[in-house]
Amino acid sequence: MDNGGADPELVQVRGRVVDFVTGQPVAGEATLGTSGLAVSPQVTVQGAAFSIPEVPANSVFHVEASVPPDYAPTTAGVTVIDADLATDVPAVSRALLSQAGAAFGVTPTPGRGMLLIQLVNDAGQPRAGIAASSLAFYGDLDARGPFFLSEALVPSAGVAATAAKGWAMYLEIDPALVGLRAAAGANLTIDMPESPVSAGGVTVVRATVTDGPVVAPKNVSFSQTVMPIFQKRGCNACHAAGKGPGRQQGGLTLNDDPAKVYRELVEEKVGRVNVAMPDRSTVLTYPSRETPPDGHPNVTFTSPADPDYQKIRAWIAEGAKEN
Ligand code: HEC
Repeated sequence: MDNGGADPELVQVRGRVVDFVTGQPVAGEATLGTSGLAVSPQVTVQGAAFSIPEVPANSVFHVEASVPPDYAPTTAGVTVIDADLATDVPAVSRALLSQAGAAFGVTPTPGRGMLLIQLVNDAGQPRAGIAASSLAFYGDLDARGPFFLSEALVPSAGVAATAAKGWAMYLEIDPALVGLRAAAGANLTIDMPESPVSAGGVTVVRATVTDGPVVAPKNVSFSQTVMPIFQKRGCNACHAAGKGPGRQQGGLTLNDDPAKVYRELVEEKVGRVNVAMPDRSTVLTYPSRETPPDGHPNVTFTSPADPDYQKIRAWIAEGAKEN
């Protein structure tokens, strides 16, 4: 179909479904679904190997792997930038879940789900010693935990902080899109991609922990700081002057002269920028994950702790000035 000239860049994701603990490819036939992309891409699976040939660049999405009967449906996030990606996705065994239920004294309810979170530093190295009291969820979420896994990934009762591999676990979560944050007073920043938890399933995520609280950027310039984000985060692949699906269907150009982009964002259509409620601005919500999902083809900002989200948000909260 002719969409005006520019197709969004597509990349391929391939890998294997591996056992969460051993990292070895699962035995048996896996199936794989995706969520978080408006157009569900085609997925091919052979044994444990999978391939997703066409994913829009600069997207964050989730895959759910099922390998009955030994594994619980397992959801994990995948982030693609602008190149093909080889990545393994985990499957959590039912054996590990029964071990966890026994160790933590929780009898799983079928309608609820679980979350396994690896806390890492910004170089991706696991962080040991992050206390249970430092962790909280966005919103009002009913869950049991956090509990912790030992360095060998064994559910360990009576432990109050992450071990050497950085794994924490929550059980009995009502199905929802969940995001972890630092508890008030923890003096940490936690950036966890908002992730779907499904009934009877396990969601496996990585969250980045940095020391010190979230500091909102100040005096953010539209032309110097906000405009380059649209380039850097790949918005321009679709919202380009005169072309691209985001331009054709969304009516929004993000790579033009800053004065023109400013007018489109702030003056042409109500809601793109919402100074009274910055987090409701569609320039933030469309590229973020929402329930129910909006019509945006991809997700770029995995959580409000994303540094670029923070910058755009601060610019809006400061009055969306043409600065
Ligand atoms: C893969 C292509 C693609 C990418 C990448 C993309 N967009 Fe979009 N965008 C679209 C499409 C298509 C629409 C129209 C969706 C609809 O109307 O349901 C849209 C709509 C929007 C809208 C609503 C437009 C309106 O009418 O108010 C905003 C705001 C937006 N995008 C911002 C962004 C930002 C910011 C980024 C980068 C962080 C981005 N988009 C990345 C394709 C894209």
